[in-house]
Amino acid sequence: MQKLDSNAANLGTVDTLIYNISMVTMSGDLHTDQPACAIAITNGKIAWIGDNTNEAHFPIAKVSYDGKGQLLTPGLIDCHTHLVYGGDRAAEFEQKLNGATYEEISLSGGGIVSTVSATRTLNEAELLAESEPRLESLLKEGITTVEIKSGYGLDTHNEIKMLRVARQLEEKYPVTIRTSFLGAHALPKEFKDKTEYIQYLIDEVLPAVQKEGLADAVDFFCEGIGFSRLECEKICQTAKQHKLAIKGHVEQLSNSGGASLVAEYNGLSVDHLEYLEKTDIPLLKAANVVAVLLPGAFYSLGETKMPPIDAMREHKLPMAIATDLNPGSSPIASLLNVMNLACVQFKMTPYEVLLGVTKNAAKALGMEDQIGQIKLGYDADLVLWPIKIPAQLCYGMNLVKPTMIFKAGVNVNG
Ligand code: NIG
Ligand code: FE
Repeated sequence: MQKLDSNAANLGTVDTLIYNISMVTMSGDLHTDQPACAIAITNGKIAWIGDNTNEAHFPIAKVSYDGKGQLLTPGLIDCHTHLVYGGDRAAEFEQKLNGATYEEISLSGGGIVSTVSATRTLNEAELLAESEPRLESLLKEGITTVEIKSGYGLDTHNEIKMLRVARQLEEKYPVTIRTSFLGAHALPKEFKDKTEYIQYLIDEVLPAVQKEGLADAVDFFCEGIGFSRLECEKICQTAKQHKLAIKGHVEQLSNSGGASLVAEYNGLSVDHLEYLEKTDIPLLKAANVVAVLLPGAFYSLGETKMPPIDAMREHKLPMAIATDLNPGSSPIASLLNVMNLACVQFKMTPYEVLLGVTKNAAKALGMEDQIGQIKLGYDADLVLWPIKIPAQLCYGMNLVKPTMIFKAGVNVNG
């Protein structure tokens, strides 16, 4: 339980007060760690957290909301998506139902590169229009920060187009967007050699992306159907030179050594991890790397090999949960549904899952000092839910929706 600040006298008039709520702050160890409380917001930041029992101690507010005893959480964070893309892969879904694997489809010229073709045909406005409904679907669930990757352009013009669209979404919607440059996602058709393509990314595409300031991080796909550890290491070295954070799609379909690479380069996160070796976990912990689990991809690919959750828990490795929203391996535009999958498939507790979409997701984006917790001075990204305990968010699908969403202190859903 945080120490309640009952002295609001020196705050002056605050912008917003929400009273008669309980909170899961995600900054303590207890599950509903602030019963019967109130919160005040000024200039988009959390300015006061206090007891609900004594109204005389509330700060004076321009606008007040009665929370009606409902539960307040930090705004949810989807820290791994590919939501900017063209077309869909429904035909491949049918191939998979008939027995083809994700890898077979990829090796026969489908998979990621088929989405590259569809994405390249769209201009910026068309790509924006195709991507908007997917973002909207997340936002109505109380997501206030979203990470978006490039990786369906695979040349300078189209990677830049994708990243510009991602940035435009931030201008159009009440959401913080973080972008990752995923040039090393697949080998585009016009290249025959992976080494040459990696060199092209390093010499041309990444510098062009940097020139426009379009990327917050660099990502890669370290996998048989992606790139080798050595090729990914070249990407890491370049990211370092450009002072960009590092994230990796690693150990998804096989153990290819990507996790220890991210640890060596002190990256932000390792994502997927079904084939992670337990011996890598202490390395990740020591390097302060977050494990991002993607239960939607596990589900959609019919994966049976579980990420080593128990060992991660034992080592207190922070675990985040994200949708991986993309047209192939995780066509799921709902973080709440993925939270349910994390509990059902990975046997994570609802509180672990909520940590995974708040505090730990913030850490996976390098934003743990700003979002993901209800804490004084943090962004007032907050969601009010008609529930009492976090398990109610996770135990079903499409049963719960937010009653109020605040983005940087602004009530964005009425
Ligand atoms: O996170 N693993 C690589 N990339 C994506 C899938 C992209 C796609 O299939 O289009 C993922 O699963
Ligand atoms: Fe992904």
